[in-house]
Amino acid sequence: MTEVLNADGHGLARAARLLRDGALVAFGTETVYGLGGDAGNAAAVAAIFQAKGRPRFNPLIAHYPAAGEALRHVEADDRAVRVARRFWPGPLTLVLRRRADCPVALLAGAGLDTLAVRVPGHPVALELLRLAATPIAAPSANRSGAVSPTTARHVLDGLSGRIAAVLDSGPCAVGVESTVLDLTGERPVLLRPGGVAIEDIEALIGPVRRGMPLGDPGEGVRSPGLLASHYAPALPVRLDAVSVADDEALLSFGLPLPGARCQFQLSAAGNVAEAASRLFDGLRWLDAEGARVGARRIAAMPVPETGLGLAIADRLQRAAAPRG
Ligand code: TXA
Ligand code: MG
Repeated sequence: MTEVLNADGHGLARAARLLRDGALVAFGTETVYGLGGDAGNAAAVAAIFQAKGRPRFNPLIAHYPAAGEALRHVEADDRAVRVARRFWPGPLTLVLRRRADCPVALLAGAGLDTLAVRVPGHPVALELLRLAATPIAAPSANRSGAVSPTTARHVLDGLSGRIAAVLDSGPCAVGVESTVLDLTGERPVLLRPGGVAIEDIEALIGPVRRGMPLGDPGEGVRSPGLLASHYAPALPVRLDAVSVADDEALLSFGLPLPGARCQFQLSAAGNVAEAASRLFDGLRWLDAEGARVGARRIAAMPVPETGLGLAIADRLQRAAAPRG
């Protein structure tokens, strides 16, 4: 049963409590309703992908109650500080490099070295973020492939019974998603047009490159540029391992195989959601540890392609694909 919470003191406290406990709460922003989960809790982030029924891990936006908190988790240059000062709180998302000490789960950023951060321009959302006191990962609160919801009713139409609660703050004023601006390179890049006009950003920081549409992640449209920047382990990956060679590091799922130089267990219980929450940490760990013990390859045990297993398989297949 999904609770419908009013945007009053009681509803806000309840919503924040649920988020802190790792549950999923949809909440209104000025753009669209977001499907929120504790970004620092990899299990909660895995549950977001599960509730949406996304076939692959797309990077999520981490939401904060204030610019200072958002920019503390990323490498913010002068441009980032200027656009943040002008447009936050508001419908703008900034993609920046993660800082080494960033507490946001790797799964929230789909394993990327970058993180999308945003301070939404809605008083209820901001109060919820303050009370939750942890960054909140939130894609639009629709099932994969459906349009973004702008009322609590829309959220329930798609996600009733799949999330703990929806905080009803009324219809969203902007109604389209936030503008996504990539500031990781020398030239800013518009990744998604949205609530803040690109001309207004250009007036502040100069020319912005267009033409890298991400599309709606629900539809699976991805720019090759973004795909290329996805984290791929340095060691080659061998899929569907049922045995392990003595020069291999093992990514195990369920009952491990004997003989690996080093091993990272995704889920001893064979739970795909748990495996998803540990996937990117596992790949990074095996890369470092494998190199240390002289492994030349990562052998990945098969994961059943049900639920989040499909997204795990997608990610591993791309990690195993020939490198260009
Ligand atoms: O208005 C919004 O942005 C809403 C509200 C809830 O905040 N959220 C939203 O999230 O639209 P979502 O997941 O539906 O769309 C996020 C977009 C996707 O196109 C995703 O690929 C992109 O932001 N994105 C997120 N992190 C990224 C990253 N590290 N690098 C590049 N693109 C990223
Ligand atoms: Mg969306």
